[in-house]
Amino acid sequence: FKMTTVEEMEAATNRLLETGAKVGADAWQFRVKNQTPHCKFGEQGVCCRICSMGPCRITPKAPRGICGCDVHGIVGRNYLKFTAGGAATHSDHGREICNTLGHAAPDGAYKVKDPAKLIRIAKEWGVETEGRDIYDLAHEMSELALSEYGKNHGVSRWLKRAPQHTQDLWHNAGIEPRAIDREVSCALHMTHMGCSSKPEALIRQSLRNGLSDGWGGSMCGTEFSDVLFGTPKPIDTEANLGVMVAENVNIVVHGHDPSLSEMICEVADDPEMIAYAKEMGAKGITISGVCCTSNEVAMRRGIPMAGNFLQQENVVLTGACEAIVVDVQCIFPALGPLSKCFHTKFITTSPIAQMPDSDYIEFSAGTALEKAKEIVKTAIENFKNRKPDLVYIPDMKQKATVGYSVEAIVKTLDGVTNSQVDKTGTTKPLVDCITSGVIRGAVAMVGCNNPKIRPDYAHIELMKKLIANDIIVVASGCSAQAAAKAGLMDKAAKDLCGAGLKRVCELADIPPVLHMGSCVDISRMMVLVSELAKDSGLNISQLPVVGCAPEWMSEKAVSIGNYVVATGIDTFLGVDPYVSGSTEITELLTSGVKDWVEASYTVEKDIDKLVDKMIERIEEKRTALGI
Ligand code: SF4
Ligand code: FE2
Repeated sequence: FKMTTVEEMEAATNRLLETGAKVGADAWQFRVKNQTPHCKFGEQGVCCRICSMGPCRITPKAPRGICGCDVHGIVGRNYLKFTAGGAATHSDHGREICNTLGHAAPDGAYKVKDPAKLIRIAKEWGVETEGRDIYDLAHEMSELALSEYGKNHGVSRWLKRAPQHTQDLWHNAGIEPRAIDREVSCALHMTHMGCSSKPEALIRQSLRNGLSDGWGGSMCGTEFSDVLFGTPKPIDTEANLGVMVAENVNIVVHGHDPSLSEMICEVADDPEMIAYAKEMGAKGITISGVCCTSNEVAMRRGIPMAGNFLQQENVVLTGACEAIVVDVQCIFPALGPLSKCFHTKFITTSPIAQMPDSDYIEFSAGTALEKAKEIVKTAIENFKNRKPDLVYIPDMKQKATVGYSVEAIVKTLDGVTNSQVDKTGTTKPLVDCITSGVIRGAVAMVGCNNPKIRPDYAHIELMKKLIANDIIVVASGCSAQAAAKAGLMDKAAKDLCGAGLKRVCELADIPPVLHMGSCVDISRMMVLVSELAKDSGLNISQLPVVGCAPEWMSEKAVSIGNYVVATGIDTFLGVDPYVSGSTEITELLTSGVKDWVEASYTVEKDIDKLVDKMIERIEEKRTALGI
């Protein structure tokens, strides 16, 4: 077993940038140089431009804005607005999935692939399921889920999944999320000029708005995606740019919403389309993915992962990409001008993410099949426009086993600690592995890439050290793709583990880093820790489990961080969320919030120290439990 190193990946990127230079392409590597050094006021979060008396910047000589707001109020408001942006984004993705569920029909483009899961959720929500037509039920659940976004009264239906203790903490702290959209609106109201400037109030709402994402909109996204497209089960796939095939029409799906990518995969599988591709001179069609949409189709279909966030320009630079098809979020506007340097069609599909220099083919649940056909055909017909002398696909890929939903983890780990292999249907065997010390704990590795951190380096190095220390890793988003590209999701990576974790990997036949899905699927991790807490009789905050986003960059990541912390999981960041300008906000996030939710943030930019601090925290939690 041989890992792919970051150095090897960087060499491949450099070779692609040479192609780029030939055609006059720009790239993030150059734009970073133009933007450095960054604005110090922005970095510290001390610039306010929420009213037109400003912008105001806080300095020792000017400690208050024109309205009199101090630095803590300004940093806190900026932090809450950042959170609201992320919560709105995940939740709107979730809303689209709920909407798609409403379009499910036995003879339509979208079907109910996991009826048992739909019935389980309906029962949880107190909906009559006996003798019901499954599509009838799907439509009722779609309406109910959509009303979670704007209901007049009450708190999120999903909160009941948390252990009672956690629910009580939320209630007592006044941070139970109400209607999903309301928490975003409330955040934007609070941050308006002349509303909240008290740090405690701003951070409380940051947690509540985060919870409305993780235990609201994102959970809707994950759960109803499973209902529609199937709950992920372990499946083999491959990762890194070498999954693109030079002789084939290459369609790269990028973005987040499986409503689009599932249809593209469905259509590209059609023998008629494959025949058409052959007619146009290709050998076949290869779909691969970038970012979370890639995670979605990898988890359910084994579609290979071409790369993660900071590799999105690389897929075009191969010169072998006929179409990069995007929906929403994390899409570089740079893909527009870049695609013009090649034959690549940059196809935007969502009214939410419209970009210059793209071909816009609007996609909606009602017209899904027909639009997906149009998109795949556009890609096929573009094959002939390829410039063969520009084609270079790095010969670099790794095997990966993905698809570890909570359901799959419970099923796979069931019985590993028990020679009779009795199936418990719970997380108890995993709890046993942890309490006996065979596994020391677990880390949820999540989040993006960020040029401020050597891309993928932090993800990969942290994971290597964690598994060597018998700490199992669950990963999602671009972090999961970093692991897959490096080879850490190959079952053979068990050789990099400590003896205990290696044994578990062998018995359960799993890789040491488990792919739990996309970023909205961090809601799966919330369900998993809740189950672990219930099955062990411990509080979530007592479990030797921490979260980590070493290379995060987006507003979504801050929303996630807030709900992970608010769920009782200490969270470690490798990039500062623009709060260093306020001692009070920093103190609240790194310590004060512990009084409300039993967990807090640690920000540590030194990667070696970051991993050591996580291991230390896990061992502290073990000591406190006497295990
Ligand atoms: Fe300046 Fe206050 Fe307006 Fe912000 S809200 S720009 S600090 S006057
Ligand atoms: Fe993502």
